[in-house]
Amino acid sequence: MRVLSGVQPSGILHVGNYFGAIRQFLQMQEEHECYYFLADYHALTTVQEKDRLRGLVSDLAAAFLAFGLDPEKSVLYRQSDIPEIPELTWYLSTVTSMGLLQRCHSCKDKVSQGVVPSHGLFSYPVMMAADILIVNSDMVPVGKDQKQHLEVTRDITGAFHTTYDTEVFTLPKPMILDNVAVVPGIDGRKMSKSYGNTIDIFGAEKPIRKAIMSITTDSTPVEEPKPTEGSTLYQLARVFAPEGEREWVETAFREGGTGYGTIKKQLFGWFRETFGPARARFDELKADPEAVEAVLVDGARRAREEIAPLMDKVRKAVGIR
Ligand code: ADP
Ligand code: TRP
Repeated sequence: MRVLSGVQPSGILHVGNYFGAIRQFLQMQEEHECYYFLADYHALTTVQEKDRLRGLVSDLAAAFLAFGLDPEKSVLYRQSDIPEIPELTWYLSTVTSMGLLQRCHSCKDKVSQGVVPSHGLFSYPVMMAADILIVNSDMVPVGKDQKQHLEVTRDITGAFHTTYDTEVFTLPKPMILDNVAVVPGIDGRKMSKSYGNTIDIFGAEKPIRKAIMSITTDSTPVEEPKPTEGSTLYQLARVFAPEGEREWVETAFREGGTGYGTIKKQLFGWFRETFGPARARFDELKADPEAVEAVLVDGARRAREEIAPLMDKVRKAVGIR
């Protein structure tokens, strides 16, 4: 089975990104042939400062490797290293109806958050279809927020096949990661870079500790049992606690005698345990940018080799070259 997914280098990685997406991606590399890419063309719809974009791309590549992406098993590449992607995007654009894109909610959501309503943001789902179709992926793991984009990809595939009376593309199956919890941020809303409520994974430990210590709680006194329903700290503790410590969380909340401060310190301890090795590896990789670049260059080479025969068929189908 061939698996493909992409992550936009549009912000610092937080624990929601890890537990909600990246952890699942990396588990798949043991059983499937995986293609993962850094969606830097897509990120241009929101990040329009060149130095920041470059920094985010190199951090995201280092993060994938630090979390354990094995370049021997999986193909990791930068979207902008694949010129066939914008080419295929154009062919697909010409068979995509305006109405299909007008029905997409993610563009409207982003505009309501203050993102400039550019043509690129509007036509984003077409490039996403190209990302997916170009490597003949069978399965695309994504968060719930991307479900509609995958339906659009399937519609665009159908439109291309009908228009050119061909069957060049593999119809990809979505794999919606809805069995994973939505991780709350420190203020109780969904953890998201756009809410400024994240617990980041990399970077200095002090602000991360500070973020954890400022998770919103109520004023239940230390000796009393703490409410779990609607408690951000409880949800985060359940996400972070290693298997053997889940009981500790239940006892701490339900029996009373453990203060919120103690639970937060415990949470920080688990953060260090969970991410300590990846954080150390990340720092090593950041100190060796050539090694990271070499992985991306090799990934792009392998991806383009795979892409070439399909693109020949696509060009023939549309009558170009
Ligand atoms: P953000 O909301 O911070 O902008 P993105 O939209 O870039 O994050 O998300 C990248 C990936 O991480 C997506 O696949 C998304 O489903 C996942 N993700 C983001 N935030 C969370 C969260 N709070 N809980 C679970 N998964 C999340
Ligand atoms: N749109 C995805 C996101 O914002 C990133 C992405 C771009 C992607 N192209 C993709 C995901 C192709 C899966 C497949 O998170």
